[in-house]
Amino acid sequence: MSKNRGPVVALVPAAGRGVRLGESIPKAFVELAGRSMLCWAVDGLFESGVVDTVVVIVPEELVDRARADLPDSVVIVVGGKERTDSVRAGLAAATDAELVLVHDAARALTPPSLIARVVAELHAGRTAVIPVVPVIDTIKTVDVLGAVTGTPPRSELRAVQTPQGFDANLLRRAYRDIDGDATDDAGLVERLGERVRTIVGEPEAFKITTPWDLALARTLLGQT
Ligand code: C5P
Repeated sequence: MSKNRGPVVALVPAAGRGVRLGESIPKAFVELAGRSMLCWAVDGLFESGVVDTVVVIVPEELVDRARADLPDSVVIVVGGKERTDSVRAGLAAATDAELVLVHDAARALTPPSLIARVVAELHAGRTAVIPVVPVIDTIKTVDVLGAVTGTPPRSELRAVQTPQGFDANLLRRAYRDIDGDATDDAGLVERLGERVRTIVGEPEAFKITTPWDLALARTLLGQT
């Protein structure tokens, strides 16, 4: 039984510098098969058929470029220094949202079906939903000198993707009440003590971060 039927707003943080990619322009504006990563990500959200409004968060100097590239209905806001600052700016522009998705522009090839599955879980009454995939490598924790301090059991670890979906009021509360930074939005919601549910992610939702990832994305699109 659905508890939420208000507007579904997708926030797309795209204001990172993308230093690890080694390109001269911010990562979200790097092109894949003739379209920016940001355009691919926004198109996927609309193709899912479950998103009412898209808010993109971009560096100040690229607002005009984003306006020219994206459909007129897309809301564009300026991002901040850290990812959480950018998401906070997007959330402030989504005042009417009942459900919020936060979706990295860098996950440009995310299948629309995954976006629809996240929203279906929210409509079913979940308040925080994240796609995850098993971790392939063994993961170690290390100290500042690189010495190993622990080996968490791999069977308990998951790599986390986006879109992450939330009841909008829960995410607003997390951004209001929790101090400090987080590498994903669910991390803030967890710190409120709220339950976050996982669903099975998709390999194509990988985050394009390094030159290797960019080569993989271009290969998947048949671009050489
Ligand atoms: O840095 P990371 O790979 O975690 O970035 C994930 C997403 O967050 C990217 O799409 C990036 O553009 C965005 N981001 C942002 N504002 C920042 C840093 C990252 O919108 N200050």
